[in-house]
Amino acid sequence: MQINVVNHPLLQAKMTILRDKDTKSVTFRHIISEVAALLTFETTRDLPVEEVKVTTPLCETTGCRIKGSVTVVPILRAGLGFMEGVLSVIPEANVGHIGMSRNEETLLPMEYYCKLPADMDAYTIVVDPMLATGGSAIAAIDQLKKRGMKNLRFMCLVAAPEGVEKLNAAHPDVPIYTVVLDDHLNEHGYIVPGLGDAGDRIFGTV
Ligand code: URA
Repeated sequence: MQINVVNHPLLQAKMTILRDKDTKSVTFRHIISEVAALLTFETTRDLPVEEVKVTTPLCETTGCRIKGSVTVVPILRAGLGFMEGVLSVIPEANVGHIGMSRNEETLLPMEYYCKLPADMDAYTIVVDPMLATGGSAIAAIDQLKKRGMKNLRFMCLVAAPEGVEKLNAAHPDVPIYTVVLDDHLNEHGYIVPGLGDAGDRIFGTV
């Protein structure tokens, strides 16, 4: 199983607050943004840079700037909960959106919305807090690749082993970054111990 679990004390402590069933939406939303910002540091560790000259008040030296552009693609709806945090550390990123829903006849995930930035060569981070069965992540990445996107990575909060294995098998070129790798999926497709329905907890719906 190929997965990057970002095991940092700040992330793990915030994750505990997110797991707590008594954490209210207002706190949940705030903490998930902080977690997304911290996780973005690790997910972008291999971001390409180019050398530039910079003049300090004392002398000229070399520094760097990000080479090319960065695109973030939240999978609707829960992926939106990551956006404030990701954009707080990469404010220049372009944002694409992809909406996946379950076809009630075939039970397969299908795309209902997709709007992407023009730069298909961008360094792209696909975000969704929960990697459960892997169905929507795989289908979303299928669609992004079909439209020509390359250089993709997937960032989540909680991953289930079942989803990681499926995503690894379907898209071995897409690294996965998560805060925690949980135990299993229950019979309703919820991650255990998990944190419940991430979209409902972010948006205060039931
Ligand atoms: N989606 C969620 O929001 N939570 C889960 O546990 C599984 C899928």
